[in-house]
Amino acid sequence: MYRSHTCGELRPSSIGQTVTLSGWLQKSRDLGGMTFIDLRDRYGITQLAFNMDEDAKVCEEARKLGREFVLQIEGEVIERSSKNTKIPTGEIEIRVSKITVLNGSKTPPFTIENETDGGDEIRAQYRYLDLRRNPVQQKLLLRNKVALETRKYLDTLGFLDVETPILIKSTPEGARDFVVPSRMNEGEFYALPQSPQTFKQLLMVSGFDRYYQIVKCFRDEDLRADRQPEFTQIDCEMAFVEQEDILTTFEGMIQHLFSEVRGVELDATFPRMTYAEAMEKYGSDKPDIRFALEFVDLNSAAKGKGFGIFDEAEQVLAINAQDCAGYTRKQLDKLTDWVKRPQIGAKGMIYLKCNEDGTYKSSVDKFYSQENLAEWAQVANAKPGDLLLVLSGDLEKVRKQMGELRLHMGDELGLRNPNVFKPLWVIDFPLLEWDEETNRYHAMHHPFTSPKPEDMNLIDTDPGKVRANAYDLAMNGVELGGGSIRIHDRELQARMFDLLGFSKEEAEAQFGFLMSAFEYGAPPHGGLAFGLDRLVATMDGAESIRDYIAFPKNNRGRDVMIDAPSPLNEEQMKELGIKKL
Ligand code: AMO
Repeated sequence: MYRSHTCGELRPSSIGQTVTLSGWLQKSRDLGGMTFIDLRDRYGITQLAFNMDEDAKVCEEARKLGREFVLQIEGEVIERSSKNTKIPTGEIEIRVSKITVLNGSKTPPFTIENETDGGDEIRAQYRYLDLRRNPVQQKLLLRNKVALETRKYLDTLGFLDVETPILIKSTPEGARDFVVPSRMNEGEFYALPQSPQTFKQLLMVSGFDRYYQIVKCFRDEDLRADRQPEFTQIDCEMAFVEQEDILTTFEGMIQHLFSEVRGVELDATFPRMTYAEAMEKYGSDKPDIRFALEFVDLNSAAKGKGFGIFDEAEQVLAINAQDCAGYTRKQLDKLTDWVKRPQIGAKGMIYLKCNEDGTYKSSVDKFYSQENLAEWAQVANAKPGDLLLVLSGDLEKVRKQMGELRLHMGDELGLRNPNVFKPLWVIDFPLLEWDEETNRYHAMHHPFTSPKPEDMNLIDTDPGKVRANAYDLAMNGVELGGGSIRIHDRELQARMFDLLGFSKEEAEAQFGFLMSAFEYGAPPHGGLAFGLDRLVATMDGAESIRDYIAFPKNNRGRDVMIDAPSPLNEEQMKELGIKKL
């Protein structure tokens, strides 16, 4: 028997018992006559005590042990003289009578404690050591809990967990595919699924009615804090449903998860906002509604007064930073530099300070009278003490830039409390978006999304205006999930591929299997998928999903621990029929 108890388990009620523990040596303190060791496992830390006067032999042995040695000890639970109230086992310690070294350890490259001295790179390289640290383990325990509660909730509602293949043909979800060469079919490739989209639809055609899967998806796209090349979806699909059925079912799931896992009761019904309104007010399709700072349209108040930049701009937009008129020149310059960074791309920023004495100070007051500026303030509902930040330019660009500035100000003003959770359904997405580069339409969600029936009359005349039965769940500025009601009619699906610029032959070659399935009694259906990594990180108030994945990739898509990707040897290349260029 390696252990009678874990390192997190013993309390004063066990005093006097003889116990056996196994774990890692986290820390050792040699105080001359006494030696103390912190023994750690997944469950906690227990202090081991060695007394030179009582048992010199074991004490000598203990002094030779190094950090991260794997030990088994036997001893008696005793009361601690100086108690540690910070840890659950802090009232006891073990008077050790026997030590067995189960395995030694080299000195680890960083300290394996809650606060570590290791940088990102070294911790990624030794991820298995970083994973020993308690804060890192807690994140994976949280993930496990979320996944478990997801299964419980969906199972109660009759959803079936069905696995779908990983070696497939490309499913367009807007990213590039990762591909796998086929040895048995030389010159041909599988694609790894960007999502199980077409398979879950086929399962509806098969009559499974309610499907879910917690499933790995693969997308070759530029990486960010909330994007990994392989990530996990809670992927769901339902038959005989309308949009409303889906929104209520999954609103329930998110409420269940927050309540069970975090003890947080979310709103009884989640607010909804159309895509058009989200873009107009927040310049984002995933607005953070923990705070207001809504956009104010200054076009009529600020244009036509001789300030060329505004006069020529399609849109002049402001946000009202309340009680910020005290911002110094230096602070305003810093904000201006921030919006001018290439990632944001604004040409400049104008401000208007609403002074406490009722006067106005602006960076462009050469062009505007006090009355003009008072009108800006009135349109923005600004009171003395407030500060307007103003950007201008092309409508779409300026909305995006202002959306970024809004989030930045939200951070700066402490309005983005990580312990407040504000879900929002964003609905009525456009079906298509125009891509300037390729000069054609792309599906905004994916090509299987159904247009809104009431907009069908626009499909030939003004396809860009057609709205889709598509929805996203945003929370705190993060897109947690998204989905749509699907097309289940062959003709409409073929029309959609046509709109997206596929020839008949291309559509047939790539998606003939799906369109054929629609000829054999496809039920009306729809669904959605949540990003599990994003959901867990958001529930924990974090922005980066990397810490919530046991073995993540870095931002160049590399696993620096196993050193992947890596070249193949010549023999493998030959076998796969691949030639080096
Ligand atoms: P979508 O492409 O919106 O929809 O993806 C669903 C959710 O998956 C998460 N996600 C990611 N998480 C981490 N890294 C990534 N690279 C990444 N890409 C996406 C997001 C996103 O909201 N098949 C459809 C769903 C459907 O229509 O049912 C789909 O995949 O949280």
